[in-house]
Amino acid sequence: MVKVASPKVITKVFSEDDYAALRLLFQNPKSLEYQEGFSRYVVADNSLPELQKFADKLTNIARETFGSKELLPTYTLFSHYEGENPAPSLYKHKDDNACTYTIDMCLYQTDPWDLYVEDEAYTLYPNQALAYFGNDQMHWREKFPKPGSQYVAMIFFHFAEPDHWFFTKGPSYLSVIRKEMTEEEWKARS
Ligand SMILES: [Fe+2]
Repeated sequence: MVKVASPKVITKVFSEDDYAALRLLFQNPKSLEYQEGFSRYVVADNSLPELQKFADKLTNIARETFGSKELLPTYTLFSHYEGENPAPSLYKHKDDNACTYTIDMCLYQTDPWDLYVEDEAYTLYPNQALAYFGNDQMHWREKFPKPGSQYVAMIFFHFAEPDHWFFTKGPSYLSVIRKEMTEEEWKARS
């Protein structure tokens, strides 16, 4: 059973060298896939395996922070928010993907854009992160403060226990969780 606790700020996520190496991976964020609904440019670790190495490096910190000896990385997403029409937004939600344990890290930004978890606002600066429970705690952001001149880049690192469906059935099982197909349809395809 996962024990849900209050979010925690991690004040220095990576060493200077690792942070610099991570920063170098995203020199041209606008070449990435654009998601209009969120006004953001994204890439996940399944298309950028280097991201997985950083999730692996974070695993010990995640285990300490969340008090689990066995949690493992599930998936990681880089996201650069920028734009005016519409401005980036993140509605109030809980996650349905393999996000039991979430570490949202600020990679770079012109100005902060507070992250809210369960009614508390958190201001993050580069190489800082917020650790919280993505499947259990409501999270969102208020209005993008300076559309037109602002951008904010985050990396979302996710972890789960080894008996999570992500590991026992595989990432494609998300379609069943989202009720896009039945268990039987999913079995027939996999
Ligand atoms: Fe989320």
